Amino acid sequence: MTTHARPSPAGRRIPELDPAEVGRWRERGGELVELFARAREELGGVAAVRLGPRPTVLVTDPSAVRHVLALRPDRYVKRSHRARLLIGDGVLAATGDAWQRQRRLLQGRFTGPGMRRWEGRIAGAARTAAARWDAYARTGEVFDVGDEMRRFALDTIWRSLTGHPLDTGTERELAAVAAVVAALPSLPADGVRARGAVADELARIDAVAALAIDAARDGGAGPDGPGLLHVLLEAADTRPEYTDDLIRDELVTLLVAGHETTAGTLTWLHLLLDRNPEARARALAAGAPGSPERRNALQGLVHETLRFYPSAWILPRSAARDDLLAGYAVEAGTDVLVCPYLTHRDPDLWEDPERFDPARFTTPGRRPAHPGAYLPFGIGPRACLGLRFAMVESTVLLEHLLPAHTPRFRSVPTGAAYGITVRPDGPTPATLTG
Ligand code: HEM
Repeated sequence: MTTHARPSPAGRRIPELDPAEVGRWRERGGELVELFARAREELGGVAAVRLGPRPTVLVTDPSAVRHVLALRPDRYVKRSHRARLLIGDGVLAATGDAWQRQRRLLQGRFTGPGMRRWEGRIAGAARTAAARWDAYARTGEVFDVGDEMRRFALDTIWRSLTGHPLDTGTERELAAVAAVVAALPSLPADGVRARGAVADELARIDAVAALAIDAARDGGAGPDGPGLLHVLLEAADTRPEYTDDLIRDELVTLLVAGHETTAGTLTWLHLLLDRNPEARARALAAGAPGSPERRNALQGLVHETLRFYPSAWILPRSAARDDLLAGYAVEAGTDVLVCPYLTHRDPDLWEDPERFDPARFTTPGRRPAHPGAYLPFGIGPRACLGLRFAMVESTVLLEHLLPAHTPRFRSVPTGAAYGITVRPDGPTPATLTG
């Protein structure tokens, strides 16, 4: 069989990081983000890095980011990912017409009036978390802030899915979700072996999902009224594609997408406030409890946290066909990594980017206007479905916790772990002093 060299699309060659530099980085056992930061610094906002046989294209320039995610999403598609063994064909991984139909069904539930249905549940989960924090303050008990944020975020999404608060049995079983997410980057590339390595956890997750689906089908709505699961079951009445398998996949997708991200963000927020206590004081002084001014200031804290640590720190895509990106030639099949983490810390876009300064988001004109410059929730048609949900749950929790409690950390993580999401790289034990 003969092979033909494919003609390159017209355009300049993407500058590539010196392979010797990649070799030194490998020897050092450095973090991927360090290598990417180096590539951006040396080569600019569209740079090639050879991690395997073919170069990966790193995209941090805001116009190029916008091109990939928002203007030409048909040319840069999601590729099949290991996370599929957890989330299956759910909306986060689906592509093409199936994705479009799945997204359309859920979209209305996460915007405008559709969001109102979840607000009471979010407030319920925040009150439960606040009651636990009141108890920690009374007893002086050491607790882990990251675990607490995970509990809250899981409770919030579980109430929204099922109409029931999270019970301790389900919470225990759903620890398997975090275990699989944490294992994903190091699982074998072979799908069958990867699945085998986390088979027990997947079985536990499937069992929880099956119970929740059966309960929603048989018992109707929970005490908080119908949830997203009921929306999916109703869809199944008229649409044959909503099989129990797809409903399971959507349920697990919403659990995964909807809690690891928010929990990580809220944990970072507490750590950043520990280092920047004046930001906390300023947010609380912005207005009375429940006032729009206070809410705006709390949203500023969340946005500035997401600028520092966008949970989805890289957004992977694959070039579906040859393209021109910022004047550079991109060949079909190229792996493209958009990196919000580096865009958010670009000194050409952000003044003094390493400074925690929530006022960037509360003072008009202080943040770059370019839509590709700040994208913790992604941009374009595949942007986060849960943006409003995440912002409401984060600010409502802060409304409940910040005025009454300041965690005193016993120890703080030394840095970040860059896996599927960017998380603190260690435990976050703390006490509350009221
Ligand atoms: C701070 C919290 C959150 C962050 C930073 C975040 C971030 C993101 C990002 C960056 C994407 C786009 C990924 C890409 O383009 O490759 C995304 C997609 C998605 N997010 Fe979120 N997310 C958060 C919370 C949530 C919540 C609370 C939910 C659900 C309740 C949710 C559901 C989804 C779903 C379903 C998608 C897939 C959308 C699609 O592909 O059409 N997210 N999220």
